[in-house]
Amino acid sequence: MNKLRSAAGLEQLRNRIMSQRDPERTCVVTSVGTCGLARGAAGVAQAIATELNKDGLKGTVDFRTTGCHGFCDIEPVVVIYPKRIVYCHVTTADVPQIISETVAKGKVIKRLLYTNPATGRKIVREQNIPFYGKQYRLLTDSIRFVDPHNIEDYIALGGYTALCKVLFDMHPEEVLDEISKSGLRGRGGAGFPTFRKWEAARNAPSCDGVRYIICNADEGDPGAYMDRSLLEGNPHSVIEGMIIGARTIGSHHGYVYVRNEYPLAVDNLGIALEQARQYGFLGKDILGSGFDFDVKISRGGGAFICGESTALMASLEGRIGEPRPKHIHTALKGLYDRPTNLNNVETWANVPLIINRGANWYSKIGTEGSKGTKIFSLVGKVNNTGLVEVPMGITLKEMVYDIGGGIPDGRKLKAIQTGGPSGGCIPESLIDLPVDFDKLTEAGSMMGSGGMIVMDEDNCMVDMARYFVKFLTEESCGKCVPCREGLDRMLDILTDITEGRGKPEDIELLEELGDVIKEASLCGLGGTAPNPVLSTIRYFHTF
Ligand SMILES: Cc1cc2nc3c(=O)[nH]c(=O)nc-3n(C[C@H](O)[C@H](O)[C@H](O)COP(=O)(O)O)c2cc1C
Ligand code: FES
Repeated sequence: MNKLRSAAGLEQLRNRIMSQRDPERTCVVTSVGTCGLARGAAGVAQAIATELNKDGLKGTVDFRTTGCHGFCDIEPVVVIYPKRIVYCHVTTADVPQIISETVAKGKVIKRLLYTNPATGRKIVREQNIPFYGKQYRLLTDSIRFVDPHNIEDYIALGGYTALCKVLFDMHPEEVLDEISKSGLRGRGGAGFPTFRKWEAARNAPSCDGVRYIICNADEGDPGAYMDRSLLEGNPHSVIEGMIIGARTIGSHHGYVYVRNEYPLAVDNLGIALEQARQYGFLGKDILGSGFDFDVKISRGGGAFICGESTALMASLEGRIGEPRPKHIHTALKGLYDRPTNLNNVETWANVPLIINRGANWYSKIGTEGSKGTKIFSLVGKVNNTGLVEVPMGITLKEMVYDIGGGIPDGRKLKAIQTGGPSGGCIPESLIDLPVDFDKLTEAGSMMGSGGMIVMDEDNCMVDMARYFVKFLTEESCGKCVPCREGLDRMLDILTDITEGRGKPEDIELLEELGDVIKEASLCGLGGTAPNPVLSTIRYFHTF
C-alpha cells in the first residue's frame, strides 16, 4: 500500500474498499477479545476458518475476528451477518453445524441462541438482546465491524475522516473550540474538561518547542477493563484521537503508556500503529499536510500508581513510578519537563466522533455537566456482566435491572460500588440516582474510570471497604506518610472489625483518619483512598 498523500486519496481508498464489499454477503464474525479468548474463542475462530475452507464456501463467505462486542457473559460469540444471528457459548464442536446449517442454508440453530432469563424466550438477533437495549454504543458499536488487524475495516466506517477535517479544514483554535463546546470531560477518573488541558499544553512555553501527547492506558482499577477492550477492539479510534490532539497542541511525539498485563492490547495497538504509518496517517508529512507526528508504545511499570499522571511520566522516562506534587501542572511541565497533554483511552476515542459529528450533536447527549456516553464494566452480583456503554445520566436502576438483568437468584440489591478504589458504595435507596460525574461525587462516590460492582444482601460492606483499602495499601508507592502509614492503620482497624474485634470508637477513628489521609496525601491515590470506607460509614453504619 502506497502512503496516502491527500484527503482525496483517503476518499478514493474508502470508495474502493466499499465497492469491494457487499453488505448483503454472508459474513461470519467471532469476537476474540481477552474475554472471548479466555473461554476458547481462538479455537472457535480456527475451526470456522477451517470449516469455511472445507465446505468449499471459500470466496463466497467473509470471515472476521473482532474485539469484544460487550456481553462478556455469553462469550465465545459467533454472529452471522447480514441477519445478525447471534450464537453464544459456542464451542469448536458447534462450528460444523453453524457452517452447514446457518451459513450454507440460513437455518437458525435454536440451542445456540441466547435465552432471555426474564421470559425464557430465545433471541435470534444480537440487537434484540435486552443487555444492549438501553445502551448507546457510540464508541463500542464499531468494534463488531472492525478486525483490529485490518485498518481498512476502520477506514470503511469513516475512519480518519475527522483527521482529514482537522488537517485541511480547521485551524487548531477551531478544534479547541469544538472540543470546548462538546463539553468532553476526561474519562480517566477526575472528569477534568479536556479542552482546558489541551489549551494549557498548546499555550505553555517550551524551551525547544517540543510538546508531548500521552494516552493513559494503564487501567489498574480492580474489575475495570473498558480501556483494554477499546484498545483491543478499535485501536485506530484512539490513534486518530491522539493525532487530532497532537495537531491541536502542536505536538510531534506521542506515547501510549499501556498496562503490561494487557498483551493483546499491546499487540493490536502495535499492528494498528504500523498500519497507520504505512497508510500515511502517522510519521512525516501526514496525508501530505506537512504535519509530522508519531506514536510509541511504552509498557507500564506494573503498579497501580503508574496510572497517576506524574508517576506515569516518571515511569515513561525510565525513573521509578512515583508521583510528585502537582503545583506545576503536567500541561506546563510534564514528560522531560516539556508541556504534555495526557488523556485516557476513552477520552481520546471520543475526539474523532466530536469532530465528525460536531459539538452540537455531541453536547445533546448526556446531562448538563457530563456530556456524551460512558463505558462501564458492569460486574458483581448481576445477571448480565459485561462492557456497557450508556448515555451519561442513565439511572443506576436502569443499569442494574434493564441492562444488567437484575440480581441473580432473586436476591435483594444492597449497594453499587462505582469508581474503583477511589470511589464509594451507593446504597440501594439511591437506585434512582442518575449516573454522571457530579451526581456520583455528591453521593460520596465518583465516576472513576468506570468500574461498577453490584452487591447483593449477602455481601458484607465492611469486607468490601477492607478489600479496596488492602489493595491501595499494597499499591501505595510509600512516598508520602499519610497514605503509607494511614492506610496501613485503616486496614488494621477494618481487619479487626471483620474479625470480630471491632470497638464502637473505631468508626470515629476511621473517619478522622480518612479525613487526614484525604487532605494530606501527596497524590490522588491517598486523596481518594478513604472514599470506600467513608461512604460505607455514611450509608451503612447503623447506630
Ligand atoms: C493512583 C491513580 C491511578 C490512576 N490510574 C489511571 C489509569 O489507569 N488510567 C487513566 O486514564 N487515568 C488514571 N488516573 C488518572 C490520571 O492521573 C489522569 O487524571 C488521567 O489519565 C487524565 O486523563 P483524562 O483527563 O482523559 O481523564 C489515575 C490517577 C491516580 C491518582
Ligand atoms: S504517594 Fe500518592 S498519596 Fe501517597
